[in-house]
Amino acid sequence: MEFQKVIESRRSVRKYDPAKKVDEATIKEIIDAAILAPSWKNSQSARYYVIRSEETLAKFKQTCLPPFNANNSADAPVLIITAFVKNASGFDPSGEPTNELGNGWGSYDLGLNNSILILKAKDMGLDTLVMGIRDADKIREMLSVSEDEIIVSVIALGYGTQEPNMPKRKAAEEIVKYF
Ligand SMILES: Cc1cc2nc3c(=O)[nH]c(=O)nc-3n(C[C@H](O)[C@H](O)[C@H](O)COP(=O)(O)O)c2cc1C
Repeated sequence: MEFQKVIESRRSVRKYDPAKKVDEATIKEIIDAAILAPSWKNSQSARYYVIRSEETLAKFKQTCLPPFNANNSADAPVLIITAFVKNASGFDPSGEPTNELGNGWGSYDLGLNNSILILKAKDMGLDTLVMGIRDADKIREMLSVSEDEIIVSVIALGYGTQEPNMPKRKAAEEIVKYF
């Protein structure tokens, strides 16, 4: 797909085809693209936890998501939990934060990775939903995520059965100042 079309046609999709599974090679291709994102001094602190088994998907949705997000991702055959290693991106080798943003840089880097992830998925004919409302403590416990990592979003992945309209965007004039 033409790049501009990928950007414009990607939507947050909240209904998926339960019959259309996503194979491991497809998931790997999507994550391989995300890995190409830039990161602070190439620190590459993004981490992914992929859930595909039906049993674990059901347990995760029930335990780690509030009901409305469990519903929004009900038929999604894949959930990708995204996290980053803390005190890496944005930190000096001495372990001190390089500036006031601290672990904000890890979050920034992960966002760059995840932007590529959701656009790559769209380019391959899949849809996604980024979910920020989730229970990080329960995710940590269920997936044994190390305390060294900060859990950020849960991304549903699958073949959508809806084509939502694009929620209105601000115009460039509203958000840009030129000097
Ligand atoms: C960081 C982040 C967190 C979000 N959290 C949720 C969420 O918990 N549940 C949900 O249904 N949508 C969530 N969304 C989706 C947004 O509502 C959506 O991206 C926005 O309304 C724009 O729509 P679009 O993605 O179709 O362009 C989230 C998106 C982002 C980037």
